Amino acid sequence: MSSVTIENVTGVVIESLGKHGPITDRNREIMTSLVRHLHDFCRDVKLQHHEFIAACQYLARAGQVCDDKRQEFILLGDILGVEVLCDMLTNSVEGTESESTVLGPFYREHPPVLPKGATTAQTHFDGEETVYVEGYVRDAEGKPVAGVTIDIWEDAPNGLYENHDPAQPDFNLRGRFETDENGHYAMRALRPVPYPIPNNETAGELLRMMGHHPNRPGHLHMLLAKDGYRTLVTQIYDSESRWLDEDSVFAVKGSLIGTFEPGRAEHGTDLYLRFDFVLKDAAAEQQIAAE
Ligand code: BEZ
Ligand code: FE
Repeated sequence: MSSVTIENVTGVVIESLGKHGPITDRNREIMTSLVRHLHDFCRDVKLQHHEFIAACQYLARAGQVCDDKRQEFILLGDILGVEVLCDMLTNSVEGTESESTVLGPFYREHPPVLPKGATTAQTHFDGEETVYVEGYVRDAEGKPVAGVTIDIWEDAPNGLYENHDPAQPDFNLRGRFETDENGHYAMRALRPVPYPIPNNETAGELLRMMGHHPNRPGHLHMLLAKDGYRTLVTQIYDSESRWLDEDSVFAVKGSLIGTFEPGRAEHGTDLYLRFDFVLKDAAAEQQIAAE
């Protein structure tokens, strides 16, 4: 009978993978690396047993916070910079295509389908600033891409997404638009304001443990989709917003910063934002992946 020791435990666990049932190559790759890094981490910080139990209790509490409106584990991943890293590993940028960033926990499927130029705002807020947002969606060759659906979602001027604010109408500040034959889109929305990510539960504990604040700079979320193109999940950041250089979830990229200009008379909004996108051809992406 062999004995487990501090020296051999990592190898013993890795060698056990797949011994009593089939395991895919990808699962073997992931589990081997996970066990190695987890064990190295424990050795590195000499993790004590009471700290291991505290971590298990913490994760159990995080699970208890989750429901259909709150995904605490995405928040924990965001605070640790894991979602933005996985997104960059998934959606690498080799050419002129627009950069992606984190989806975050507030996306809702099946937003209201709205005509070009319509507003996503169903109600008014003190101090709101309306904005006309427009631009073009093109492919890597500069050709317009028609029929791209663009989902947009954002927080209200009170810093809350509608599904976390009983005072707002269902799907307020959410909508789905489509590009026309010239690849052009247009919508009316509100200037997004900075807001704190949910921090009253375990995510807040983690932020405090790391000596961090919870705030995000003002941003509009966008999800662009069309068959044959890589789906683009991204955000447009307000160049004048606070927290641009210290986003609590590390998701800001220079190419995603937009300038909210004074509104134009023909649109009747307080502000104007032009933002273009370049979508990556899915065939080109598969070819790169195969190489
Ligand atoms: C968001 O932008 O909605 C978001 C992203 C990550 C964590 C929390 C919120
Ligand atoms: Fe957001």
